[in-house]
Amino acid sequence: MSLAAAGYPDFVVHDGINRTGALVRADQPWGDAQLAELYDAFVFEGDLPLYLELAGGQGQRVLEIACGSGRVLVPLARAGFDVVGIDISPHMLALAQAKLDAVPSARARLMQTDMRDFRLDRVDFDLAICAVKSFAYLTEPDDQRRCLQAILTHLRPGGVLAIDFMHPLPDWVAAPVGSMRDDLLQRVPDRGYTLSRVESVVSTDLARQVRIIRSAYELIDDDGSIRAKHFVEWPYRWTYRFEAEHLLERAGFRVEAVYGGYQREPFTATSTAMIFVGRKSATRP
Ligand SMILES: C[S@@+](CC[C@H](N)C(=O)[O-])C[C@H]1O[C@@H](n2cnc3c(N)ncnc32)[C@H](O)[C@@H]1O
Repeated sequence: MSLAAAGYPDFVVHDGINRTGALVRADQPWGDAQLAELYDAFVFEGDLPLYLELAGGQGQRVLEIACGSGRVLVPLARAGFDVVGIDISPHMLALAQAKLDAVPSARARLMQTDMRDFRLDRVDFDLAICAVKSFAYLTEPDDQRRCLQAILTHLRPGGVLAIDFMHPLPDWVAAPVGSMRDDLLQRVPDRGYTLSRVESVVSTDLARQVRIIRSAYELIDDDGSIRAKHFVEWPYRWTYRFEAEHLLERAGFRVEAVYGGYQREPFTATSTAMIFVGRKSATRP
């Protein structure tokens, strides 16, 4: 069922942006040029050692699903891996391309396409990565299945998928409408402003495992004046541990590990992350 049919009439479900004044309603935030610009201001590198290590153990050819602005893809290219990144947002891909242009030795290719349904000219990838909850933008079970199927098709026999989900802890799921999380606040020295992001719960549909989140971005000058403010409402689909395992197995992956953190911590009841490593059969075409 689409979000529109489920009672969110203003949502553009496929690859689009719906603007109502300062409020953007979208199937995912990063299709908007202004929001894409803000993504890299929030620095996160905690998962990079894990992906570099997995790539080192698997082989040269790495496919990143929903690679965005190249946060993971560019360090992999810099480390000498042969990388292909796909993403649906031209704005995020433009940011990634600019970073790759500064790495003359990079063996990297970017492609604007939908992770639900993509076809590349190579099906011999050693490793596929889907980092920082990017899978949560797929709100429908059928989209999830199609995405995992497409990933499997592009891996060589014995190839590996590493996919990072949020662990939906009971407190997170139960957060009432209107509750807020002071997500991030930091000065961005090279841009000369402080960036704040506060996320609030617009609605939670327990039956569909979809939460509509409102992210409020503020760009604040050093004198305290607001330079810009952006609101975006977007759907987040959470996935439970065994649901993820079943999805992966149904797509044809053998689940080799579930980590509760990027240092390969064991997955426990209180882990906030849920990172799966799944392998395509070595004998499967
Ligand atoms: C939170 S960003 C993560 C980017 C990158 N993986 C990282 O770790 O920094 C999520 C990315 O998913 C992309 N995305 C969302 N829906 C997509 C879809 N259906 N197909 C391909 N990319 C999609 C967005 O454009 C965005 O770049």
